[in-house]
Amino acid sequence: MYTLEEIDRILENFARLRHISREPANLYEPLDYMMSIGGKRIRPKLCLLTYNLFKEDLCDAAIFPAMALEVFHEFTLIHDDIMDRSDTRRGCPTVYKKWNENIAILSGDVMSILACKYLAHAPQDVLPQALDLFTTTAMQVCEGQQYDMDYESLPLITMDDYLGMIGLKTAVLLACSARMGALLGGASPEVCDAIYDFGYQLGIAFQITDDYLDTFGNEKVFGKRIGGDIANNKKTWLLVETYRRSDADRKAHLAKLMQLPEEARAEKVEAVRRLYVELGVKDAAATAILAYHRKAMAALSGAGLDPARTRVLEQFAEELIHREK
Ligand code: IPE
Ligand code: IPE
Ligand code: MG
Ligand code: MG
Ligand code: MG
Repeated sequence: MYTLEEIDRILENFARLRHISREPANLYEPLDYMMSIGGKRIRPKLCLLTYNLFKEDLCDAAIFPAMALEVFHEFTLIHDDIMDRSDTRRGCPTVYKKWNENIAILSGDVMSILACKYLAHAPQDVLPQALDLFTTTAMQVCEGQQYDMDYESLPLITMDDYLGMIGLKTAVLLACSARMGALLGGASPEVCDAIYDFGYQLGIAFQITDDYLDTFGNEKVFGKRIGGDIANNKKTWLLVETYRRSDADRKAHLAKLMQLPEEARAEKVEAVRRLYVELGVKDAAATAILAYHRKAMAALSGAGLDPARTRVLEQFAEELIHREK
């Protein structure tokens, strides 16, 4: 079995060797830029970890599809940063800031196509299933992103709406990554289902953690500008739970805060952050993250695998919810 460090190294080598120096530079340089400023690569890691539950050889037929998930993810980030008006990612300027919006749109597009090219390296016998899993997921991510944007202009949404939205924009890709590895590794459909569920619950925990860090993280470590969600009126776990806990007066106060203009960003972020702390929502988010992590672990147990083999995957899931970046 591979360790997390070994899997890291395999993915790092792949990214370095796959450096694309084609013309036009304005199409491909943003791609190299994103790959080189390095994210956590959790989706391909998850895919190789679940693959490794069933097969020992981490060959190209597994590594290419794993990296397809990363390239697809990076494409969504490039477009997400335009949509969210985010200037910084991974501690560096975002693609649309460093180049411009048109370049960010097209380099994102080419990455989504490159992801398909990488996926096509999956073994012939599972390729139709891999393609179906990937394309279904990719459409769901777009659906989730649209809900995320639509919800910006709604005064409030329910917790169920929120969970549905993050399920689509974030959790399905982690679920797909986990299932992809199991599928490539030759697991049965029942085991694939359990592993998908594990990835989904972990993905929910992962997005709530992202919401938490967007308000309470350390900017230098997190690599994104703190307070962006509050500034954009994003319906995060923290905001939805705050509404849930508020009486009419506080709801009206919150609605006023949401209407503050960009020039009052610092004041708005500070006031909302204070509310999160005062109402105990900050602590409740940490509890919710642990609860979804537990659900993920229960789903993994449901796969009925040898605990000695799932240990690395469990370590990975644990690190994911205690992350600071
Ligand atoms: C950020 O994803 C977008 C979310 C779904 C929260 P990551 O936190 O995995 O971003 P990188 O790839 O590590 O930068
Ligand atoms: C992003 O959610 C989800 C996708 C990119 C599909 P966020 O908008 O919260 O991600 P960050 O915080 O910008 O990384
Ligand atoms: Mg977004
Ligand atoms: Mg964003
Ligand atoms: Mg976020």
